[in-house]
Amino acid sequence: MKNDLLLRVARGERTERPPVWLMRQAGRILPQYREIRSRLSGFKELVETPELACEVTIQPVDELDVDAAIIFSDILVVPEAMGLTYEMIEARGPVFPKVIECLADIENLIPAADAAENLHYVYDAVALTKKELNGRVPLLGFAGAPFTIMAYMVEGKGSKTFSKAKQMLYREPEMAHKLLNAITETTIAYLLKKVAAGADLIQIFDSWAGVLSADDFQTFSLPYIQRIAAALQPLVPVTIFAKDAFHSLPEIAAANCNVVGLGWTIPVAWGRAQMGEKQVVQGNLDPCVLYSELPKVKELTNNMLKAFGPHHIANLGHGVYPDTPLDAVKCFVDTVKEFRY
Ligand code: CP3
Repeated sequence: MKNDLLLRVARGERTERPPVWLMRQAGRILPQYREIRSRLSGFKELVETPELACEVTIQPVDELDVDAAIIFSDILVVPEAMGLTYEMIEARGPVFPKVIECLADIENLIPAADAAENLHYVYDAVALTKKELNGRVPLLGFAGAPFTIMAYMVEGKGSKTFSKAKQMLYREPEMAHKLLNAITETTIAYLLKKVAAGADLIQIFDSWAGVLSADDFQTFSLPYIQRIAAALQPLVPVTIFAKDAFHSLPEIAAANCNVVGLGWTIPVAWGRAQMGEKQVVQGNLDPCVLYSELPKVKELTNNMLKAFGPHHIANLGHGVYPDTPLDAVKCFVDTVKEFRY
């Protein structure tokens, strides 16, 4: 591989500068993405057509010169493969016409091995992208954490509170564990195939971890993430990004992972103190910093890099917002690439 900086840092090596990429770098910030997207029937056509997914995965590598590509897909392909299809509604987000309401709904889900077979379009996209990248940068694979996936499967759409999904945790905890277990088994089968197709690192997104108390996170989320990470870690480095689970950083670091993702609300020095200087971390600039004037983007990016020191993968604290000016994104990436420890 020509540029394996990110993989070396993920494995604990010291390098002369941090690697940099952005969550949601493949998407609406790029005019090239919006152009392709405008010609298609919808988001799912892009996700399900390997040639198109490959093309938009590589766009940010060409345009931004980032140190990693992340396969263009979505965390919601997993519940779909298990039998709950989703619709991506323009300007509203995902909606599931059918949701999980009772034990029979869980028992009727497609078993892990068959569900993983339903995701061939993802493995084809990974294999094609890996070939097209030709070793330029690592290709990252990902999946949602079981709790975040469960939240969509029960709630049926996005939510600020996910109170309907959380209701199951309190009223039917055994049912919740059954569902979480089914999602975990499918996710492991899926990610093993994604790695076999060529993914060089796997990131687990627990985007809604922040709606859980520390106890609930450690009961309903972390043990399942840990099982997934344990299945993958012999093969590739694993990043766990449990957004806003500030209360459980040492536990996350101990959950068979190489890299801990940090949201922007976590102060760098405090996060470091929780896990130690040697723990590889990823993040955590507030995506809204990229609305600043360029000198300020540069200053705040440099401040972040200095605060983290080595064993750091530079990124935002969550996905880049679609209306972020491209010159600010480029300024962020270039600032990291010019930085030296
Ligand atoms: O560049 C990349 O990071 C790779 C692609 C990627 C997408 N979704 C493409 C996408 C990744 C890694 C995801 C993960 C994902 N999807 C998460 C976890 C990460 C996070 O942001 O917390 C979640 C929660 C989802 C579910 C999802 N997908 C929502 C809530 C939405 C609607 C909101 C939005 O941003 O529009 C999506 C749609 C989606 N996924 C888009 C993209 C590029 C936008 C749809 C479009 O282009 O029409």
